[in-house]
Amino acid sequence: MKIQSLRGMPDLFPEDLERWHLFESKLVKVFNSFNTHQIRVPFLESTELFLRSVGAASDIVNKELYSFLDRNEESICLRPEGTAGVIRAIIQKKQEQETHKFWYQGPMFRYERPQKGRLRQFHQIGVEYLGFEEGISEYELISMVIQINQSIGIKDYTLKVNHLGDDQAKENFSKALVSFLKPHIDDLHEKDQSRLNSNPMRILDSKEQSTQILLEGAPKFQDFISESSNKFLQDLTDAFKDQCNIQIDHSLVRGLDYYSGIVFEAVSEDLGAQDAFLGGGRYDNLSQQLGGKQMHAIGFAIGVERILELFDTQNIKQLPKVGFIVTGEQIPKKTSKIAQDLRVANNKIILQTFLSNGSLKSQLRKANKNNCNFVIIIGDTELKNEQVIWKDLSEDGDQELLTIQEITDKYINL
Ligand code: HAM
Repeated sequence: MKIQSLRGMPDLFPEDLERWHLFESKLVKVFNSFNTHQIRVPFLESTELFLRSVGAASDIVNKELYSFLDRNEESICLRPEGTAGVIRAIIQKKQEQETHKFWYQGPMFRYERPQKGRLRQFHQIGVEYLGFEEGISEYELISMVIQINQSIGIKDYTLKVNHLGDDQAKENFSKALVSFLKPHIDDLHEKDQSRLNSNPMRILDSKEQSTQILLEGAPKFQDFISESSNKFLQDLTDAFKDQCNIQIDHSLVRGLDYYSGIVFEAVSEDLGAQDAFLGGGRYDNLSQQLGGKQMHAIGFAIGVERILELFDTQNIKQLPKVGFIVTGEQIPKKTSKIAQDLRVANNKIILQTFLSNGSLKSQLRKANKNNCNFVIIIGDTELKNEQVIWKDLSEDGDQELLTIQEITDKYINL
């Protein structure tokens, strides 16, 4: 029997990763412009970390965690998200009282039912701002989200925002919601019935019609949060109205327990059912929940596979690709030196060598197959005269004899 990859854990081949790298390089530019630095934390963490952060009652921990006992009988798991690990690292380094601006990237693991836009191993690029209280950092992160979307040509999206108030507001609201829903428990969708005891606020997020109908008459969360929180939410939304489609959505509660304050999510209709390609918010209590000192924190994570669906690469100029063809006698000492000189002279080209003997015809075929824009052809005579043939592969493209110096100048002018 052939061994197959696990469900929902796809391989990524060079043709998939081309867009991916382009996307990452654009994001790194944005992060640099915000003076935000990369952090890397392990893929494996103790299970306890996610029980105490994402929340034991959340779907992510309750149903989707890849957790198992290691050889030492300790319960460990593959990280389902990046935030908890970053906070654990800062607590461990005793740096909760400093400020940090981090970004990270890498695979995350959730045992979900695989479907379009939903994988078991997926990738996130996330940002965490630590040590900044509610205020300017919300504005800066929303600006960053807009800049990221702009830099990769995403125009049609909605940025939903909500304010989850503080713990007291959450608790008061949860109680009111439970008292309202309990008498109607039979009308609630089955999935939501169990949430009534474990995580009532998640019911607001329900996609089930029967639940949504019932919720129409339920207490509204905005009535439980303070006037100043409501004003902050309104001001924040107003500030970005002319830059993107930003909307207050009081039903946005997010699937992780650690949030308090502003939460947000970017959704696009072009993605189908799994329409959120980015989500985040403030989580000022997480450090203490994990045994650290109080630390303000806010961040977001992008679902890379989802955002790549929206990445418009049409107008992006690709680097010119040049095929390097040697005909006649191969003298690697000389030809590889020429290739090396060309690469050093200009790293803005891709120089594709074919690394095997073959007729001119077959090498030209390979160059076309590799989408080369130009080829350099070196035969015995050219090698002797220290010249090469430079051939433009586009329709009507011509060819000329050039020295390496002339080629180098030509590359630089491409
Ligand atoms: P999250 O909303 O769970 O937040 O995930 C962020 C994004 O990851 C989602 O919007 C989605 O695009 C993508 N995503 C989630 N699950 C899957 C999946 N199974 N397959 C494909 N893509 C998926 C967090 O993880 C928080 N840590 C974000 C955050 C950072 N909050 C504060 N700081």
